[in-house]
Amino acid sequence: MMPDFQERYDLYRSEVEAYLQGLFVGERPYGRLQEAMRYSLLAGGKRVRPVLSLAVCEALGGERTLALPLGCALELVHTYSLIHDDLPCMDDDDLRRGRPTCHVVYGETMAVLAGDALQPEAFRLIACAPGLSAQQRVDAVRALSTACGGDGMVAGQVLDVDGLAHTVEELRRLCRLKTGALLHAAAELGCIAAGASETQRRQAGVYGSHIGLAFQVRDDMLDVIADQGEFGKPVGSDKEEGKRTFVDFLGLEECGKLVAEETQLAKEAIAGFRNNEFLLALADKLAERRK
Ligand code: IPE
Ligand code: IPE
Ligand code: MG
Ligand code: MG
Ligand code: MG
Repeated sequence: MMPDFQERYDLYRSEVEAYLQGLFVGERPYGRLQEAMRYSLLAGGKRVRPVLSLAVCEALGGERTLALPLGCALELVHTYSLIHDDLPCMDDDDLRRGRPTCHVVYGETMAVLAGDALQPEAFRLIACAPGLSAQQRVDAVRALSTACGGDGMVAGQVLDVDGLAHTVEELRRLCRLKTGALLHAAAELGCIAAGASETQRRQAGVYGSHIGLAFQVRDDMLDVIADQGEFGKPVGSDKEEGKRTFVDFLGLEECGKLVAEETQLAKEAIAGFRNNEFLLALADKLAERRK
């Protein structure tokens, strides 16, 4: 493990926090919307996806300030997906990032609308991202919209809420969409900001996808074994909602092996990157995360 991994993570994360803190601050007659958006956005998530964008950009010799608006745009989309995921009509959860969920505090209507607003705001951040060419901004819009749209994250959510995964293979497909797509996009956005080659972008995308599957398997495990105070969301929620997760299909031990396998595949995908130490360490850290 690289010695200053945590320091670097904290540095990236603080840059992300500072950027996000500056959003949705104006006085508005409809200030409750702003409040609800900021409530969920600034609740202290791990910021894995934007950190990944910054790290990939740097690993490929890019300037990470160029990746910052892109990674933060993705974090807006991720936050919207969590707000909607927690709604009574979806997973019906009342704890997120260690606080009551958005709909518990602001009501369902405002939670739906806060999620609605976060989505286009993400694409506005990309459209306005400084220092990037028009082509880079279009590429970023394409990468993010593909990842979160009807054939991406939302498709995964549909397979999930409709209980359409009946085999491990089907569950893998579901999670590649539900979770992998956004992590894949996080890596791609870093590449776009760095002006990376097609090959590098493909390799970083493979890294993101494998990290994504490992991340969701670990999430399913933590839903069973985590300490709720540390996890920041309800433990046992999947069972309560009647979800069949990786833990149901494989058991905890096999899940652990699957996380290790996917982590290994992720690391192999970026073995050729010159400054890959942080990304290698990140893969390992996420595999053993407790929150
Ligand atoms: C939660 O994502 C949703 C999943 C894909 C499992 P994170 O675990 O990244 O949540 P935050 O952003 O740190 O709250
Ligand atoms: C949700 O998966 C992933 C999203 C697309 C939001 P989960 O439903 O398992 O995420 P958590 O456990 O609520 O964070
Ligand atoms: Mg869900
Ligand atoms: Mg959920
Ligand atoms: Mg979960």
